[in-house]
Amino acid sequence: MKKKVLLLGAPGSGKGTQAKYLSSEFGYIHVSMGDLLRAEVEQKTTLGLEAKSYMDHGALVPDIVVNNMVVKKLSELSDVSYLLDGFPRTIPQAEFIAEKGVQFDKVIYFSIALETVLDRMAGRLTCKACGASFHAKYNQPKKDMICDLCGEKLVIRDDDKPETVKRRFETYLSSTQPLLDFYKKQDLVAEIDAEQPIESIQSQVKAQLE
Ligand code: AP5
Ligand code: MG
Repeated sequence: MKKKVLLLGAPGSGKGTQAKYLSSEFGYIHVSMGDLLRAEVEQKTTLGLEAKSYMDHGALVPDIVVNNMVVKKLSELSDVSYLLDGFPRTIPQAEFIAEKGVQFDKVIYFSIALETVLDRMAGRLTCKACGASFHAKYNQPKKDMICDLCGEKLVIRDDDKPETVKRRFETYLSSTQPLLDFYKKQDLVAEIDAEQPIESIQSQVKAQLE
C-alpha cells in the first residue's frame, strides 16, 4: 500500500537524515520543502530571491508561496509512497493540504531540546546537490567534505549560524509545534526521542512505518 508520511520536528531534529535513510532502504520519495526552496535560491529565480530573505532571518516563507510549490509537487506523487519533510509547517498549510485531499497515514514527530539542536547545527555539513546532511563529529562523510550519496561537495548552510538557528527554533515553537495537537487529534502521531543516536532512531522510525 502506498503511504503518505509527514516528518515533523524542530530544525536539526534529524528529519532530513532519517528521510534519506527511509528513501534509500524502503524507496520512499523524499520531498523536502527546504531543499525545494534552496534549489530556487540557487537558480536565483524570483521566488528564490523572495524566499531567501525569509530563510536567512529564520522566518517562514509565506504560506501562499509554499502552498503553490507543494501543489505542483503533489501532481508528481500520485502513485508512490512519500515523505513530506518540512511541509506543512503551519496550521493553514495543514488545512490547505487536507483540502487538496492529502490524508497522512502517519506523522513522525522528532522531539529535541534547543541545546542539542545548537550542538548539531554547529557541525552540520550539507550537500548542495542532493540535500543530504552530515556532521563533522556525529555523522562524518567517508571522504572529507564530499557527499557519500552523490559525490558532490559539502557546504555549511547559510541559515546555520547560531543566531539564525535560535530564531528558526523560536519560529518552530510558535508556528509549527501547534501541528502536533492538530495531528494528535487525528491519532496519527508517533513520537520519537530525537536525542538518541542516528541508528536507534532509524530502527524506531522503521518500526513505526511497518
Ligand atoms: P528546512 O531545510 O526544512 O530546515 P529545518 O526544518 O529548519 O530543518 P533542518 O533541515 O535544518 O534540520 P533536519 O531536521 O533536516 O536535520 P538534519 O537531518 O539535517 O527549511 C529551511 C527554511 O526553509 C525554513 O527555516 C523556512 O524559512 C523555509 N521553509 C521550509 N519549509 C517551509 C514551509 N513549509 N513553510 C514556510 N517556510 C518553509 O540533522 C541536523 C544535523 O544533525 C546534521 O549534521 C546531522 O548529520 C546531525 N544528526 C542528525 N541526527 C542525529 C542524531 N540522532 N545524533 C547526532 N547527530 C545527528
Ligand atoms: Mg532538513
